[in-house]
Amino acid sequence: MNEEHREELIAQADSIYPSRVNITIYDLDAFLQGGTLAVGAYLHLEDNTGKVLIATIENISASGTEAEDQGAGRVYRLAGQPLGMLVNGRFERGNTAIAFPVQKVELASHGEIRKIFEESVSDGDGFCFARLASDVDIRVPLDGNRFFNKHIAIVGSTGSGKSYTVTRILQTACQTRAGRNNAHVVIFDIHSEYRAAFPDANCLDISNLALPYWLMNSTELQEFFLDTEGNDHNQRNVFKEGVIMSKAKHFKGPEELRNKLTLDTPVFFEIEEVLNYAIEKNEEMVAGARGEKAGPLNGKLSNFIDRMETKLGDRRLAFLLGERARRQSFDAVLRQLMGYGTERSNVTILDVSGVPFEVLSITVSLVSRILFEYGYFYKRIRSASGAEIHNDVPVLLVYEEAHKYVPNTGSVKYRAARESIERIAKEGRKYGVSLMLASQRPSEISETIFSQCNNFVAMRLTNPTDQNFVKRLLPDSMGSVVDSLPALRTGECLLTGEAVLMPCIVKIQSTDCPPASNDIPYWSLWQEPWHELNIDAIREQWMDR
Ligand SMILES: Nc1ncnc2c1ncn2[C@@H]1O[C@H](COP(=O)(O)OP(=O)(O)OP(=O)(O)O)[C@@H](O)[C@H]1O
Ligand SMILES: [Mg+2]
Repeated sequence: MNEEHREELIAQADSIYPSRVNITIYDLDAFLQGGTLAVGAYLHLEDNTGKVLIATIENISASGTEAEDQGAGRVYRLAGQPLGMLVNGRFERGNTAIAFPVQKVELASHGEIRKIFEESVSDGDGFCFARLASDVDIRVPLDGNRFFNKHIAIVGSTGSGKSYTVTRILQTACQTRAGRNNAHVVIFDIHSEYRAAFPDANCLDISNLALPYWLMNSTELQEFFLDTEGNDHNQRNVFKEGVIMSKAKHFKGPEELRNKLTLDTPVFFEIEEVLNYAIEKNEEMVAGARGEKAGPLNGKLSNFIDRMETKLGDRRLAFLLGERARRQSFDAVLRQLMGYGTERSNVTILDVSGVPFEVLSITVSLVSRILFEYGYFYKRIRSASGAEIHNDVPVLLVYEEAHKYVPNTGSVKYRAARESIERIAKEGRKYGVSLMLASQRPSEISETIFSQCNNFVAMRLTNPTDQNFVKRLLPDSMGSVVDSLPALRTGECLLTGEAVLMPCIVKIQSTDCPPASNDIPYWSLWQEPWHELNIDAIREQWMDR
């Protein structure tokens, strides 16, 4: 029996399609040679011109019994997905033009896979935060420029490891032997998780954050001060008149611009003056035929005035309306958000856990918009001076639980945040402002935003609606790889997109400095003797919100 014939009997390719290869294995032991047969493992197919196709195993089935095959053993059938060709020793994704008949079918060797991944990025070690799940000795480097330049989505059920992954990615990006680098990241931290992971971060929460209300645009101002569910033109008009009057009064710029001020112009106004104007209109008496009569808006603005007074008296909103916030200069706001304070920081954590739910969308909108406009105006300066790279201080905005701020519903409640974040999703790339979204419910996130993401980290996902949603958005014909999503272990994910050589299941590397998102050990805690609870301390926290 010649060499060629013997190999055919071990395994052979029955059919090859652009997105599928079907293989029969006749002699399993000889085929495996000590390796293991598993979904996700890599295959090496070679034609008689020496071209090599790399494919990944999608499913495995066995047919026939030893008795039926008269001692020839069981026959195994594999379906694989072609990933690309090895051309002159280098892997080329997408190209699957191998000639039929296939001469040789075998499991790709550890060395071969390692070489493919190692050589996949040109810049030295590449940007690497994960290893192949099926072979943790193999690093999976990414193209860091492509990864951060195009938006990133991290999806997975609760506890699948999203926060941990966000942490590991950002730590890798900010880590240098020399300490601080030029990375700029702003994290919207809804559960106070990230402070533990970034001890040197610039941490902002409602006690030290200052976001002046007068920086809000018209959508934000109206969402904040007006009853947006109702459609009260009187409120809207009086509010608008009051704001513009107050802006004009305090305006210190050139005279010809004073008449051009709008709700959107980011200049100082005194919110109390707007309130007083509304009170005036609400109590106004005008001359009538038989003496004085109630003015056109008399009594019609009472609800609006009540709302505004409640807001101005609410201590939890001091970061927007308080003395410190209203006096904060524009420069100081930008410095604070970009990590250019007295301490310089790569990571700014915006702990929004204390922000009252009803103003969360506005807060997120305002910060996102300020950072987008930073990129926009910085690009104008740099383009004017002929700089080739339009933003040499690019920034990444990280939204934890993104479905909370940018839901896929038309509700006016979230309009401000949705508008601001959608704008970044659509245009941010050009200005050096990109997004990283983490969510348990990808199907509930605005599709406009999600469909602009080019890099996906899909962790364990159990809900079928969410799985289907992810399937639709994934590039390449991912086929049944998506079916493995519900079975992924914590910290494992399907990594795909422009920055990675080929879609693969990886394990996110561990970190010494994890976020404070640990699972609570219920069973162990419940076994312990009764714990006293400091209700006084809890009440104080509660009342002090
Ligand atoms: N790559 C990993 N290596 C080791 N442990 C991990 C890894 N990823 C996650 N874990 C552990 O799994 C637990 C849950 O992770 P994490 O908090 O990141 O989940 P999550 O997806 O953000 O959940 P949620 O949606 O509820 O916020 C944590 O206790 C974390 O320590
Ligand atoms: Mg989380």
